[in-house]
Amino acid sequence: MNKIFSFCLLLFAVVSCQTAENQPVITELQGETLQMYEKGEQLFAQYCASCHNANMLNRATASALGGITARREKKWLYDYIRNPAKMVRENDPQALEIHQNNAGLMVGSPNLTDKEIDQILVYIEATYQNNKIRLRPVER
Ligand code: HEC
Repeated sequence: MNKIFSFCLLLFAVVSCQTAENQPVITELQGETLQMYEKGEQLFAQYCASCHNANMLNRATASALGGITARREKKWLYDYIRNPAKMVRENDPQALEIHQNNAGLMVGSPNLTDKEIDQILVYIEATYQNNKIRLRPVER
């Protein structure tokens, strides 16, 4: 089972998911997942949208975040979002790679809790799935 699908099962337990071209499609947000999405939307606007495009498909100052939960481990995301500089200092290979390929290093949000980051990730992936269906993704 691929990672994005297990993430889908875990976090979107109350949401129907189906596979189209091997990607889970979020068809409905309900209950707790909807609350997480709404909290995540506020947090994303407050902490992330100044650099990351809110359509989750296109680059802005920083890379597009759609699909990030399939590319990175959850624990890695918690650590990186809170303190990317620390991961570079500790020679985390993925953080080093991002740092070497890009001029800028992200400023972390050290006060975000695991739960708040989960909310942001629900918002990111649901928005990504939604926009991927409606928009034609352009080159990043
Ligand atoms: C001040 C600008 C800025 C803000 C604000 C910001 N980021 Fe970033 N982010 C970056 C930069 C720069 C990078 C590294 C280069 C890239 O991926 O474009 C990055 C990288 C990332 C990565 C790693 C991407 C990968 O390929 O693994 C994640 C995940 C991420 N940001 C999530 C977030 C989240 C979630 C927030 C809000 C809590 C946030 N960022 C806020 C600038 C920012």
